[in-house]
Amino acid sequence: MAREPVKLAIIGGSGLYEMEALRDVEEVRISTPFGDPSDAIIVGTLEGRRVAFLPRHGRGHRISPSEINSRANIYALKTLGVERIVAVSACGSLREEFAPGHVVVPDQLIDATKGKRAYSFFGNGLVVHISMADPFCPHLSEYVYQAVKAVGGTVHKGGTFITIEGPRFSTKAESRVWRQWGADIIGMTAVPEAQLAREAEICYAAMAHVTDYDVWREAEEPVTAEMVIRRLAANVALAKEAIRVLARTLPEERPCACGSALQHAFATDLSLVPEPLK
Ligand code: ADE
Repeated sequence: MAREPVKLAIIGGSGLYEMEALRDVEEVRISTPFGDPSDAIIVGTLEGRRVAFLPRHGRGHRISPSEINSRANIYALKTLGVERIVAVSACGSLREEFAPGHVVVPDQLIDATKGKRAYSFFGNGLVVHISMADPFCPHLSEYVYQAVKAVGGTVHKGGTFITIEGPRFSTKAESRVWRQWGADIIGMTAVPEAQLAREAEICYAAMAHVTDYDVWREAEEPVTAEMVIRRLAANVALAKEAIRVLARTLPEERPCACGSALQHAFATDLSLVPEPLK
C-alpha cells in the first residue's frame, strides 16, 4: 500500500533516542541496497505534520561513529519521501564563546575523517560530483536557529563543524590544529551524512549541542564520554522542544537549491541515477 510521503526527518544523536511527543506512531523497518539503517525508523505526527525519527547510533547507543551506515540511513529516509533532515548531535567547542549548553547551527563543514567511510551513493561507472560549497541548507538552518531561539536556547548562527574519525577524542595538539584551521565545533558524524543528503537532494541542517570544550582549553578538564552524555542529557529536552516548534513553523515549500542538487552536478549520465535517489 502506498503511504503518504514523510517529508521531515530528525536524526537523533547521542542522548536523543526517542521522541515521546510523536502521535499515531508507526515503526518502519527498511532494508536498502546499502544495508540496514541504524534502527527502525519511527514515523509519527508532531504538530500536525508527519515526521520520521531515526536514532543515528541505534537505540541503546550500539553503533560507533565509524560504523554508522549513513548510506542506508539516508537512503531509507529518501525511500519514505523525506525532503529535509535535521541532524541533532553532540559537539565539542573549539571557541571560547561557544560554551557547553549552547547550540550551534553550523554553515560550514571540514572533513577530517580518515577516508574509511562510504562517502557516496555513486561510483561503479557512474561518476557524480555534487557541489558542497554550502554543505548545510541555508533555509532549513534558519528555521532550526529560530526554533532553538524560540524555546529559550542560547544558539549561534553559523560556524564551521569539523568531523573527525573518532571514536577517540582529539589530542591537545590536534585540537590546536583544528582551531588554526578555522573550525568552531567538532564532532564525529556530520561527514558523510551531509554529503549523502545532498546527493539524495535532501535539505540537511545540524542542531549541534555543545557538550565540552574539547581539550584545547587549559582551564578546562579534558573531554570524556561521561561529560558528553551528562551535558547532552541536560540539552535533550531543549532539542525536543525546538523540534516541536520547527514542525509547527517550517513552511512546506523549499526555496533552496538542495532539491535539484543532481541537476547541477557534474555527472557521467544522470539518467543512470536509480530511484529513489533521483
Ligand atoms: N562530540 C562531543 N564532544 C566532542 C569532542 N570534543 N570531539 C569530538 N566529538 C565530540
